[in-house]
Amino acid sequence: MTPTPPSPPLGRLAGKVALVTGSADGIGKAIASRFAAEGARVIVSDINEALGAETARELGAAFLKLDASSEASWQEADAWIRSSYGRLDILVNNAGILGKGAQDPESAPLDQWQAVHRINLDSVFLGCRTAIALMKEHGGSIVNMSSRSGIVGVPTAAAYASTKAAVRNHTKSVALYCAGKGYRIRCNSVHPGSIMTAMWKSMLGDGPSYEENLARMSKDIPLKRFGTPEEVAAAVLFLASDESSYTTGAELLVECGILAGTASSPDLDMKR
Ligand SMILES: NC(=O)c1ccc[n+]([C@@H]2O[C@H](COP(=O)([O-])OP(=O)(O)OC[C@H]3O[C@@H](n4cnc5c(N)ncnc54)[C@H](O)[C@@H]3O)[C@@H](O)[C@H]2O)c1
Repeated sequence: MTPTPPSPPLGRLAGKVALVTGSADGIGKAIASRFAAEGARVIVSDINEALGAETARELGAAFLKLDASSEASWQEADAWIRSSYGRLDILVNNAGILGKGAQDPESAPLDQWQAVHRINLDSVFLGCRTAIALMKEHGGSIVNMSSRSGIVGVPTAAAYASTKAAVRNHTKSVALYCAGKGYRIRCNSVHPGSIMTAMWKSMLGDGPSYEENLARMSKDIPLKRFGTPEEVAAAVLFLASDESSYTTGAELLVECGILAGTASSPDLDMKR
């Protein structure tokens, strides 16, 4: 009898329907790409229609134009997902911005403060609310993109830090709410440190000071380097997959140990 050839290994997300917000570029694109490689039916979504559609083509994914901060946009997304797939298994609330101009507590303009909260925080609230409605019959996994800035204060980016702290907290409310309702929906947050994407490139500048700024920003990172979007995607994959079936309300740090110590720890070598 001819032995049956082994079937190809199934991906870690085989057959699951996954929506990633802000996935035209950066960390979101790396997540969408990893999900597609693991067998998910990926929906790339972004406010940037041209780049989002290009990314979706590149990954063999579907594209949905979605302004993650708009309630109307989420209502349209809900209807489109129901008619196109009939279900949603994974949502990654990844879309976010750093914000423009002054963000310190003394001079941040109210409209800028509110704009950062609308895009980084309202988007996560709306995304979670939509996902709960889409997932409550069969269960699912929601992953919210916070930041190491959601755990510590950031004097020059206070609005950004405030949004990411709220995302961390809302994740836990969603996790406990869903568990309490018996919905089988898990919700966890991811906290990247310095990951090289357009967000950082805009801060480091593209002139001669780029290398100098990069070295300055890297020197306090324990491994002395920025992270990659793919390194964040690997952590998100774990939380999105059934491998994390006993993990909800948790926060996963992908920040290379920046928060593992303190700036003024006792130093027994000091007297030598
Ligand atoms: N890069 C880092 O070091 C870092 C660190 C911690 C957390 N994060 C978080 O990771 C997420 C992704 O960051 P990134 O560095 O990849 O940024 P990025 O700027 O490279 O990509 C962000 C994507 O989000 C999209 N977007 C912006 N506003 C949107 C909206 N209203 N609706 C839908 N899409 C929108 C953009 O068009 C873009 O494609 C953000 O939430 C960010 O705060 C990034």
